[in-house]
Amino acid sequence: MTVRPLPTPASVHSWLAQPRRMLIGGAWVSAVSGETFETLNPATGQPITAVPSADAADVDAAVRAARAAFDSGPWRQMSPSERGKRLWALADLVERHAGELAALERLDSGKPQLMAQAVDLPATVDILRYMAGWATKLEGRTVPLSVPYAPGAQFHAYTVREPVGVVGQIIPWNFPAMMAAMKLGPALAAGCTVVLKPAEETPLSALRLGELVCEAGFPDGVVNVVTGFGERAGAALAAHPGVDKVAFTGSTEVGRLIVRAASHDLKRVSLELGGKSPNILLEDADLEAAMPAAAAAIFFNQGECCTAGSLLYVHRRHFDRVLEGVAAAARAIPVGPGDSPSSQMGPLVSEAHRTRVLGYLESGRTEGAVTVAGGSGLPGPGFFLQPTVLAQTRPGMRVMDEEIFGPVVCAVPFDDPGEVVAAANRSRFGLAAAVWTRDVSRAHRLAAALRAGTVWVNCYNILDAALPFGGARQSGWGREMGEEALALYTETKSVCVQI
Ligand code: NAI
Ligand code: MG
Repeated sequence: MTVRPLPTPASVHSWLAQPRRMLIGGAWVSAVSGETFETLNPATGQPITAVPSADAADVDAAVRAARAAFDSGPWRQMSPSERGKRLWALADLVERHAGELAALERLDSGKPQLMAQAVDLPATVDILRYMAGWATKLEGRTVPLSVPYAPGAQFHAYTVREPVGVVGQIIPWNFPAMMAAMKLGPALAAGCTVVLKPAEETPLSALRLGELVCEAGFPDGVVNVVTGFGERAGAALAAHPGVDKVAFTGSTEVGRLIVRAASHDLKRVSLELGGKSPNILLEDADLEAAMPAAAAAIFFNQGECCTAGSLLYVHRRHFDRVLEGVAAAARAIPVGPGDSPSSQMGPLVSEAHRTRVLGYLESGRTEGAVTVAGGSGLPGPGFFLQPTVLAQTRPGMRVMDEEIFGPVVCAVPFDDPGEVVAAANRSRFGLAAAVWTRDVSRAHRLAAALRAGTVWVNCYNILDAALPFGGARQSGWGREMGEEALALYTETKSVCVQI
């Protein structure tokens, strides 16, 4: 049976037919150098369109625009309620254009369009709406002072939360629009101005969002979008002296480069980096629920998730059954182009990334892992890879210790959950973990023992605009989403008045 592909909206065709420019100071401009680069459709390997390739000169122009908008533009005078209204208007526009944006996400990243429509876009809208509400709620406090060396004096002291200033935001390709919302939402709610750099693999939805930002009534220069490569545009943004804060999501390796670039002027840095998250099925887990969830935990979004449940720990009593269940689920996943309504997994984002993941599979085999399902690329065009389940993996193997960022899970049996917690806490990553059990006390004990930014109990990959999200150890610095996200974009000022 052939399934008819989902149509690409006519508006997307006409949008892609026009030359793409980037957004600097409210104007749509080419790179100063005139250079462009092509973004590819990972399902076909063919170019979709070309976008400007920004370098230091373009980043400088964008930072200056953001600086001017922050220091002297109408943005600073705007009431919190007016800022919140614009964020809410942006959310409405994203919602109205969700079909178009989902098609762009599919074209650029390869993900199934129905997934983008069901997950990425609703989450994008929800994050913007949630953050819109914070614009009016950034309160300081009054602080009773004692001042022991000024007996008899009286003070009225209070704190104010001020925007940190010009923010450089560098995002990855796995959830392009949603990552943009996670960055823009809290920064704009706090009153910052932004230079956003999407990943070179997926620049399109950020450019479309830039148009919606203009339509939503943000003053010129409040949001600037520059497209370009990490080593040029990204590095220039991270090092620019006009940037007060850098917010980054991506690899741990580049996270380190960002910290180094930001160190000379000590700009603020927040980082959301890699993970190698354990999904732990205890002896009393509800296996009917846990098994499909374990497959989804690793295979959702082609495994291209920082939170992917890439280490599946199963109590020895259930190990064979769960291994076979997850392997059967892997074999049954329809892998195909994202415009097919039946595809549940698309191609990986690029040929380079697929080569990287295949390199991990090869190293796993060499080091003694057994491939229970999948294990190979799929014949092209496009950068497809089979959902893969590995067994007989041990700590010390690269597939066990490093982030693969693809549809590859290592299944490991255990006897005592204490061993698993100890192994998870020894990992250099600490982004997320999950525990499956019917015992409430055990659930809470393990949630307390696991050193990770998020612990899920009897669920996986539940992220919410209201729930802080981020990593311990080398998985990052700071928490995005929830009230804590505002802390990344504000500085506290203390005011002390003698009365
Ligand atoms: P990456 O970390 O190189 O790219 C993420 C963003 O950083 C992109 O916008 C890129 O242009 C920018 N960038 C790259 N080099 C930069 C530099 N020197 N200075 C400033 N910005 C720079 O990630 P990449 O190469 O796409 O993927 C490599 C691995 O990173 C993946 O296999 C995965 O393990 C991890 N990764 C983790 C993500 C997460 O959500 N935590 C997202 C993407 C990748
Ligand atoms: Mg692309």
